[in-house]
Amino acid sequence: MITINFQNIFGTKIKQEEFEQKSEKLPDFLEKIHNKNLGFYQIFDDSNFQTQVKEIEIFAKSLRQKFSHFVVLGMGGSALGFEVIQKIFEHKSDKTFKVLKNIDPATILELEETFPLEKTGFIVVSKSGTTVETISEFLYFKTKVPAENFVFVSEKDSFLHKTATEMNCQFFEMPNNIGGRFSVLTAVGMLPSAILGVNIHKILAGGKSMAKNFQSEKFTENVSFKLATAQFIATKKNLNTHVLWTYSEKIKSFGFWVEQLLAESTGKKGSGITPLIATGVTDQHSTLQNFVEGIDNKFFLFLRPKSYVKTEKIQAPEKFNFINGKKFSEIMDAEFRGTRDSLTEKNCPNLTIEIDEISEFTLGELFMLFECKTAFLGEFFKINAFDQPGVERSKVLTKEFLTKTKINL
Ligand code: PA5
Repeated sequence: MITINFQNIFGTKIKQEEFEQKSEKLPDFLEKIHNKNLGFYQIFDDSNFQTQVKEIEIFAKSLRQKFSHFVVLGMGGSALGFEVIQKIFEHKSDKTFKVLKNIDPATILELEETFPLEKTGFIVVSKSGTTVETISEFLYFKTKVPAENFVFVSEKDSFLHKTATEMNCQFFEMPNNIGGRFSVLTAVGMLPSAILGVNIHKILAGGKSMAKNFQSEKFTENVSFKLATAQFIATKKNLNTHVLWTYSEKIKSFGFWVEQLLAESTGKKGSGITPLIATGVTDQHSTLQNFVEGIDNKFFLFLRPKSYVKTEKIQAPEKFNFINGKKFSEIMDAEFRGTRDSLTEKNCPNLTIEIDEISEFTLGELFMLFECKTAFLGEFFKINAFDQPGVERSKVLTKEFLTKTKINL
């Protein structure tokens, strides 16, 4: 279960009345979002998807028997969501995973040197099936491993779909009404998760539960709407850099997924939210100074489990009396409170998202919470949260450089 404490957003900068007044927008926003026919929150009841989940489980089992290592080839939304799941659960898995979300030649060579390629399964993920980085990685490894080592996730009739058919490889279709950065709870994230050995039904159950909450017209109930409301009002008060501060090493990479989701969805037409990510307690010794005394343009979202796992107690000498007999969970909790309260004292609005525990279910809820509130942010900012026209020019210029320029690096 997820709870959000909004109390610390209210003060001289943001008033509780203006937050509550936004409740009148909820039914209208929901109607507008429904009219867009988006799949990301409706997929759970889709019978085709339910069949695909069963196929994923069967196929994952067979792949687990064949390979010891796995590489996910993908960019952005095709990689970052699974990476969150990987970082949380990989210590329980008997398989070794790498998400190759960069084409840095050093990383590619390192992978070749450290992974037994003949025992490595390659999961090629690209919604469009045309992303140059993913395609180059696939073409590179295609010459090094047999066809049976590959599986593909992409849209129907894409280049990768045709390639899978030609190579006689397994293919999982991505629905065309779910955008890349909203796709973690589809085959994109669920196929590699099942191969890793994660219970994907629990993740999907969490997603489904939050998708239901998203469709509630009751302001008091609808957590994704309230979260979007807080972020929108903060942005309008010139607090447009939003720090997602995860107080848990385990969910650190959730920040990278959120960074893409928020930046690509809201950074449009000269406005939007600039995401910044921080990890507790590490960044208390890095960015906190700037947050407290630097430019006053920040809004803080803390994300943490309600309680931490327990270690043995620390035995400390007199000088460190205050930590004597304490567990790391208690120090972590005290440091979180200290940091949050120091920001509150400095009049920096902040809210705290708490999950009961880090589990498959709560992770599913979290993914859906952030996707749903992004859809609401699109309505607040009056922008299309589901496209990314700003990245196209870079792709055109890259192609030009590769076509016309003689490069020999
Ligand atoms: O959100 C998006 O659509 C993008 O960020 C994509 O996830 C990213 O560009 C990768 O695209 P594709 O999955 O088509 O390879």
